[in-house]
Amino acid sequence: MTTDSRRRALIDTDPGIDDALALLLAWGSPEWTVDVVTVVAGNVPLEAGTRNVFRLIDLRRPLPPPLVAAGAARPLARPLKIAPYHGVDGLGDLPDWPPVEPRPVPVDAPRVIVDAARRHERGLTIVALGPLTNLALAVEADAAAIRGAGRVVAMGGAVDVPGNVTPDAEFNAHVDPEALARVLDAGVRLDLVPLDATRQAILEPAALNAALARAPRPFADRVRRIVEYALRIDLAHGKRGMDLHDPLAVGVALDPTLVEWEPVRLAIGPDGQTRRAAGEPNCRFARVVDSPRFLRMFLERLCPAS
Ligand code: BDR
Ligand code: CA
Repeated sequence: MTTDSRRRALIDTDPGIDDALALLLAWGSPEWTVDVVTVVAGNVPLEAGTRNVFRLIDLRRPLPPPLVAAGAARPLARPLKIAPYHGVDGLGDLPDWPPVEPRPVPVDAPRVIVDAARRHERGLTIVALGPLTNLALAVEADAAAIRGAGRVVAMGGAVDVPGNVTPDAEFNAHVDPEALARVLDAGVRLDLVPLDATRQAILEPAALNAALARAPRPFADRVRRIVEYALRIDLAHGKRGMDLHDPLAVGVALDPTLVEWEPVRLAIGPDGQTRRAAGEPNCRFARVVDSPRFLRMFLERLCPAS
């Protein structure tokens, strides 16, 4: 497959351990050229998230290397809340990362998103893995361009299930509810991947170890140590593994048949609740996951060939 026949992908992210796994899945997927990675504040402050993107590029060395743009340092209308689950640095606080020099382009992420949407139109898939601040600012700049993208997939929300930061709100929606509401109100054909779906996509330690055993050593060791940080927390809470929230969003962006979708109208509550509402659907959400098929895809593509 030549580079030109691949779809263009733009990933907006706040890395984050599951964001890191999502980027590795995207970079291991032959259907895509990941042209752009944009960074938003969420799991960690913007600067840490940007550094993590460059660490991951240095670790995986995707070809061609994506352009990286930093975006919003805080949500649209409230202070940033970060997520301790990922460690202070966002990638499990490993002390021995090779030094990297983050060199984001000198253009704001929302502008880069708009430019990519204008350039590639239906040929572009946008996948948002953090709070939707950058995407909302892109919509504010040029809603028609974002509506014209081929697909816009976002991890976030908890429709018929409990939340993970409050009893009824999911982290990305909770951090910037105004941004999610703005994207929905703009008529973007949003494919939402909420906790309803991502809690069905569970990475167990044995499956990860088997996949990493096939990978080059320094890469495998680092991925294992990053993931161990989150897995320890999940296993201590009695879970059998780690929810692959952001990797599932990339998975369904690559192959929408991995899940059953339900069109729904969502109203966004003050804490980021994603509540069913009466009226025309304003998005569709992933409800039931073909977990064995998704996990197979994820584990096959996670590692570069040795
Ligand atoms: C979402 O919150 C973040 O902590 C994860 O990276 C994921 O995007 C799950 O609620
Ligand atoms: Ca994330």
